[in-house]
Amino acid sequence: MKIEVEKCAKTKIGDIDFGSAMPFGKYMSDHMFILKWENGQWGTPKIEPYHALSIEPSSKVFHYGQAIFEGMKAFRDANDKIFLFRPKDNIARFNKSAVRMNMPEVPEDLFYDAVKQLVALDKAWVPRGEGRSYYIRPFMIGCEPALNAVPSAEYLFMIIGGPVDAIFHGDVTVKIADHFSRAANGGTGFAKCSGNYGGQFYPSTLAKKEGFQSVIWTDDATHTHLEEAGQMNFMIRIGDTLHTAPVSDRILDGITRKSILQLAKDMGIKTDISPILVDDVVEAGKKGEIKEAFGCGTAAVISPISALGYKEHYMKLPKLQSEETFAERIRQRIFDIQYNRTADPYGWRDEVL
Ligand SMILES: Cc1ncc(COP(=O)(O)O)c(C=O)c1O
Repeated sequence: MKIEVEKCAKTKIGDIDFGSAMPFGKYMSDHMFILKWENGQWGTPKIEPYHALSIEPSSKVFHYGQAIFEGMKAFRDANDKIFLFRPKDNIARFNKSAVRMNMPEVPEDLFYDAVKQLVALDKAWVPRGEGRSYYIRPFMIGCEPALNAVPSAEYLFMIIGGPVDAIFHGDVTVKIADHFSRAANGGTGFAKCSGNYGGQFYPSTLAKKEGFQSVIWTDDATHTHLEEAGQMNFMIRIGDTLHTAPVSDRILDGITRKSILQLAKDMGIKTDISPILVDDVVEAGKKGEIKEAFGCGTAAVISPISALGYKEHYMKLPKLQSEETFAERIRQRIFDIQYNRTADPYGWRDEVL
């Protein structure tokens, strides 16, 4: 399907100082992609100047939460070439989320062309510098104006994006959840649907009041397994093995997670993908065997954890020299691939022409 393109009359790129901070998700570039589903089919795909939407207050998304999204990035290399990182994995995951939320799937080729054309058109917005990138946010909402609690008959699929800084959370202290859950068996944890995120805010706010910066989610039934780190996948190094939980109904199949697992293997780091028991972590903490722990995801790449709290236990992790950490070594490897500074043996880079 050919994408119709309406260019903006005047770029607003001059309003942004690329030399200053670019907080995550604050700035949007000149254009957006929009595609409507109605009468059981997709309409005409369009790239238009970025603009506000006008939708009815009775739209289903406001009441029943049919909303999904993705997060991916474009990177600028030293020669001003622009690359996406594993975009087809995001597209496939988006459609898995769509199925789970009873929404129509977006044709993969069209989705892929839309991302590439949008980034190519707004290429000037892809910032320069390690850690900086153009963050791409595809999303879909049920927009039929009707309050009956059945799936929407109309949807808007859109892609917006803008420049972002490297995200650095600093060393994060985390509370291991012993009551609240992010996801349940048979639920939507594996999908990127908006409600999964809204539901995290309250427990995270409570954890902040207790002095933690984030929450490690545990399994809903027993709270005995460590699953995700805030809005990221979770990894922990015990001794010299890097452990992470297998993906499931409750755990998102993170693209950073699977990239790290591959690169760790290539670097000779032992990895273990199996359920991580809180009791084992507490035991390892007592013996001083936990060397590092981190969350991983597109936004921050790797976000190191400095301490883990669980009920009466508080495990402060050692402060290793950054070059000794798996986190730093792997992060550099990922950056080297994303910024086109090294070979790309798995074809993860995807040039935007
Ligand atoms: C709940 C959750 N887990 C893990 C991740 C990491 O996934 P990815 O590495 O694909 O960004 C994300 C972010 O997308 C997330 O929202």
